[in-house]
Amino acid sequence: MTTTVTITGAAGTIGYALAFRVAAGDMLGADEPVRLRLLEIPAAVAATEGVAMELADGAYPLLRDVDVTDDPAVAFDGAHVALLVGARPRSAGMERADLLAANAGIFGPQGAAIAAHADPSVRALVVGNPANTNAAIAAAAADGVPAERFTAMTRLDHNRALARLAEHLGEPVGDLTRVTIWGNHSSTQVPDPSSVLVRGEPVALDPAWVSDVFIPAVAGRGAAIIAARGASSAASAASAAIDHVRDWVRGTPDGDWVSVALPSRGEYGVPEGIVCSFPAVSRDGRWEVVEGLTRSEDVRSRMHATVAELVAERDAVRELGLLAGR
Ligand code: NAD
Ligand code: LMR
Repeated sequence: MTTTVTITGAAGTIGYALAFRVAAGDMLGADEPVRLRLLEIPAAVAATEGVAMELADGAYPLLRDVDVTDDPAVAFDGAHVALLVGARPRSAGMERADLLAANAGIFGPQGAAIAAHADPSVRALVVGNPANTNAAIAAAAADGVPAERFTAMTRLDHNRALARLAEHLGEPVGDLTRVTIWGNHSSTQVPDPSSVLVRGEPVALDPAWVSDVFIPAVAGRGAAIIAARGASSAASAASAAIDHVRDWVRGTPDGDWVSVALPSRGEYGVPEGIVCSFPAVSRDGRWEVVEGLTRSEDVRSRMHATVAELVAERDAVRELGLLAGR
């Protein structure tokens, strides 16, 4: 079977890094043929045609077809995986409410187009910021698609947390498991290393280092990349999107979990429907939140703040009449 993967914002910097990884089989596997549908705004269609030309020139054995369009109905036709990357960036002087409204105007119609045209098994990952609330908006507009099929990306934060811990402990990053990002993909996120294992064994971490160094470093990494590169993270974001979908489709490794923002069913006291990052495992193609973890007082209080921010974002789009449906 050929898997249809839709990438929105395909001419953007993350889209450009992502399309070639998908075509190479990094996301779905080395035996899985893939069809790419690339969605862009009309002004970027010509540039996206250029991306399609380069994809052809890659002579990827798994790549069956590439379609370029500015029409969401065409882009999501038969989509099994929808990578929602294209978003309206915050411009100078733009208030947060304006940003939410501008993005609701993108993610609402895209959610509706997914419901109308995608394969019934569709899985959507929102990368475009504000990712958690954009995912909630898309899910609300996607009548008939289970809300749990709309997720937002905190895997980049998760990978950043693993990298900072590996560096601190002087251990290979691949030997670390069980790190969690709670909450929003924003500066209020809660990176939580309290369950981390190194080669299956617990390690003691200094609470002052966690609170004063580790958490600010992980939560501030996106801003640090922007300051250094003059542009937001791109290849690492694309790589995290590949990791997210690969684990969703093929399952998370035994004994480990990853961080995924998905609609709360009330786990850990997070209000239902809020798209919140949790520790999760994927079994048979479905995410399940890892429940019953003990959280320190510090983690609980930080979680309170990040969930409050998500609730405020939800309320803001609701007030603007942009959270249709459920
Ligand atoms: P970019 O500006 O380089 O590219 C975005 C692309 O989206 C542009 O080509 C634009 O034309 C397109 N676009 C805008 N509206 C569209 C629409 N309605 N339909 C289709 N395409 C549309 O930005 P980028 O660096 O690729 O980042 C994309 C988004 O990802 C941003 O919102 C960024 O903040 C976010 N991001 C999220 C994470 C995360 O961890 N969740 C990490 C990095 C970046
Ligand atoms: C990131 O985490 O790198 C981005 O979400 C930062 C941004 O604001 O684009």
